[in-house]
Amino acid sequence: MGRTGEYHNLIGSTNDRAKELAVMGVPEGFLVSANGQTTGRGRLGRSWASPVGQGLYFSIILYPNLPPVELPKLTLLAGLALGQAVENLGVEAKIKWPNDLLIKGKKVAGILTEMSAEAERTIFAVVGVGINIEPLNERESFSYPATFLKEHVAIVSRLKLLASFLGYFEEQYELFKKGEFARILKEYEKRLAFRGEEVKIISGSHEYSGRLSGLADDGALIIQDGFTTRRFAAGEISLRRK
Ligand code: BTN
Repeated sequence: MGRTGEYHNLIGSTNDRAKELAVMGVPEGFLVSANGQTTGRGRLGRSWASPVGQGLYFSIILYPNLPPVELPKLTLLAGLALGQAVENLGVEAKIKWPNDLLIKGKKVAGILTEMSAEAERTIFAVVGVGINIEPLNERESFSYPATFLKEHVAIVSRLKLLASFLGYFEEQYELFKKGEFARILKEYEKRLAFRGEEVKIISGSHEYSGRLSGLADDGALIIQDGFTTRRFAAGEISLRRK
């Protein structure tokens, strides 16, 4: 991962650029990174504040030979790799399923996976990662209480953090291709935020509450509400602590 790539000081969105490059057929693992983004995007149509020099913003291009329904798993792989890379800095991190990284309950990083598929086959996938490093601008509005790495670690080398993420992500991706998703899930679950706690799931105009009991074999979230067990596939939904 990241053996080939391009770097921009300022770009619209690294995910958008990565999608253009994927169509051109750049090698798998190609990295697009930027020092700032003018139209950084998050999940659920939100924007992702990406001021120049304030964070790490990058996207990786993959060509997974998988049906699109399997794609949410890539987000979990990236979430785990992100957790491992941040732990490497000596900070305890939890993953708010499916793809937000929390430090002390606040969001420090997010992942946006996008793909292009045709006839039930994925043509390419782009895994975009945004990590807040420097203090956040109070004027920015965040959908979830936010934090930044330097609130928890004195010195952060962006290059080392990126290299460490890429190393872990490559490891997870290799395991995944070998059909070892169960192993990845086990590691992921160790870092799962709100396990055993009361949470709510917001899915469009619906809201479901219950106890977060864990993950299914395919990475779906399992919520227990009395005698009712509900499964949620990582899609257009949000998870909140109650
Ligand atoms: C989220 O938490 O909603 C996901 C945020 C993902 C942000 C990253 S920054 C690099 C890449 N380019 C984008 O436009 N978005 C992702």
